[in-house]
Amino acid sequence: MHSKTIQQEARRRHASLCAEIERHNRLYYVEAAPEISDTDFDALLRELQELEAEYPDLITPDSPTQRVGGAPLEEFETVEHAVPMLSIDNTYNEGELRAFDERVRRGLGRAEEPQYVVELKIDGVAISLSYENGELTRAATRGDGYRGDNVTANIRTIRSVPLKLGKKPPRILEVRGEVYMRHQELERQNRLREKAGDPLLANPRNATAGTLKLLDPKQVARRRLDAVFYEVATMEGVELTTHWETLARLREWGLPTCEQAQHCKNIKDVIAVCDSWESCRNNLDFEMDGMVVKVDSAVQRRRLGATSKAPRWVIAYKFPAQVARTKVLRITVQVGKSGALTPVAEMEPVALAGTKVKRATLHNFEDLAKKDIQIGDTVEIQKAGEIIPQVLRHLPEFRPDGAKPFPIPKQCPECGGEVHKDPEGVHLRCLNLSCPAQLKERLEHFAGRAAMDIEGFGPALVEQLVTRELVKSPADIYDLNEDVLSDLERMGKKSAANLMNAINSSRNQPLRRLLHGLGIRHVGGHTAEILAQYFGSMDRLMEASVEELQEIHEIGETVARSVRDFFDTDENRTLVQRLQKRGVNMREESRAATGAQPFDGKTFVVTGTLQRYSRDGIHARIKELGGRPTSSVTSKTDYVVAGESPGSKRDKARELGIPVLTEDEFEKLAGDSR
Ligand code: IVH
Repeated sequence: MHSKTIQQEARRRHASLCAEIERHNRLYYVEAAPEISDTDFDALLRELQELEAEYPDLITPDSPTQRVGGAPLEEFETVEHAVPMLSIDNTYNEGELRAFDERVRRGLGRAEEPQYVVELKIDGVAISLSYENGELTRAATRGDGYRGDNVTANIRTIRSVPLKLGKKPPRILEVRGEVYMRHQELERQNRLREKAGDPLLANPRNATAGTLKLLDPKQVARRRLDAVFYEVATMEGVELTTHWETLARLREWGLPTCEQAQHCKNIKDVIAVCDSWESCRNNLDFEMDGMVVKVDSAVQRRRLGATSKAPRWVIAYKFPAQVARTKVLRITVQVGKSGALTPVAEMEPVALAGTKVKRATLHNFEDLAKKDIQIGDTVEIQKAGEIIPQVLRHLPEFRPDGAKPFPIPKQCPECGGEVHKDPEGVHLRCLNLSCPAQLKERLEHFAGRAAMDIEGFGPALVEQLVTRELVKSPADIYDLNEDVLSDLERMGKKSAANLMNAINSSRNQPLRRLLHGLGIRHVGGHTAEILAQYFGSMDRLMEASVEELQEIHEIGETVARSVRDFFDTDENRTLVQRLQKRGVNMREESRAATGAQPFDGKTFVVTGTLQRYSRDGIHARIKELGGRPTSSVTSKTDYVVAGESPGSKRDKARELGIPVLTEDEFEKLAGDSR
């Protein structure tokens, strides 16, 4: 065949695959009536991916393959909402719902009968999407209602958000909705996090908000969020007279709406619908915290208008938090990775919000004392969106004779070590760095998937190694040998050999994984990566001052101080030295590093305005070439690069006899000049 015809054929197939995938997406997400299996759907998507791999010209921004997430962002752009994203007023009982209906009727004049639409109030994050000629152009978070973050790159990864609207869309559409995470997905995320030793997501709303704040859309794509749409903010080219009709049109265009929405002729029907959902809220796969009741007619809505806070035509009916009553059998104390002591109520099992609950957190000892919870007490526990239930209060009339307050521990329940109250917080902490409970947590974290990734180094092994005092610090892991390991319970020769291999190869992990594994407070995987990329080696990081750390984009004072404190502690310096002696890698390959590094080990200060580099740009270039940008001129500075209006830094450099480079000279040195 002629190459032109092959091209044409590819183009045709591409268009038809895109259309078919979009149609199945719509059937799945909007109509909840899929026609093909997930496997068949994946096969279509794979065919499209293969076609695009062969003909990259065919890739369009709205191709269904583009949901995997694009390049990471530096920060979110702030966007202004042309129509503010107001909040809505709340009601908590039937009487307040009737009062809302009264207000609406008064506002409209008695003769007009308002009709309503009732939707579920899904607990997620509000979002505003803009479509122009059917194409998704922008997605923004609510922010303060007037200004939010431009999170388009993140929203594009959500499969239930159409990148292109179907069936004669309006020329301009700005639509509001909710992004949320299903329970099933939250559980999947938490299973992964548990394995990796990362803190668990507390509830679906925080999980969603946290996900949308990620700067790397590829990570967002992995979290599998959902979306539902419920209001039109701006529309040009289409007129609609009722909300009920609007919902139908949104679905036609491919935007999912609340499947459970109901049309109600009067407030009596509204109340019946709200009542009926209160008892079945736990049967859904997502969190809802109430219902939203809306006037149906567009004309009536316009006449009612809004206060500065909320529209007058809508009200939320909030369900009470779910509460259960049970008895405290015991109070136990857990010791976390950083030594924090948390009291936990162990209770008679009770049904709450769709699950059986037998443990609830008491947060800390101040909380325990304030609520005065004692063993044998009858307590009320609550689950308000959170996964872990909380103890609300005890019921004094049920307190058994002879009950006593739970004593505040003076020693760590695990190691008998000294405990201290956090100066900045309310936590009691065990100060013994070799406390077995903390040690176990720390070792599991160190060897975890997100850190040194030592396969087979799980809780059961850690338990044995710590109890037999074979490992007292992460560095001791590298002194283990096959003989010692094969002596452990449930450990054959073969698994011991595999484990030894895993331990040995973890020595080569990049610095960012080691840093994460050390468990420095406030330094998670992402921050560890930033630090490793910036400094390139443990030595350099260990020398960095708080000021220098704070100069790094995304590193604030809390993190900077915590890093400095960590390396100022003798035990931690010793730990790093011991790891180094055992051959653990302490370096991070620079992303751009290939061959010679002309600025290796050199410190630069940039001052004044440059013509050809931005400030971030020149800093990045210095780092790429092995150098280190800093902000203040000291005797340790190797070069100062001075642009226009350089100010006192250049003077100081001259005083200290440090070479001052012009932009041209820097370019030459960097090999950037032509
Ligand atoms: S309508 C101006 N409908 O609840 C009216 N909101 O507490 C816009 N929400 O900010 C809101 N489900 O994030 C509406 N079916 C629904 C909703 C809903 C959840 C959220 C939304 C809003 C918050 C108010």
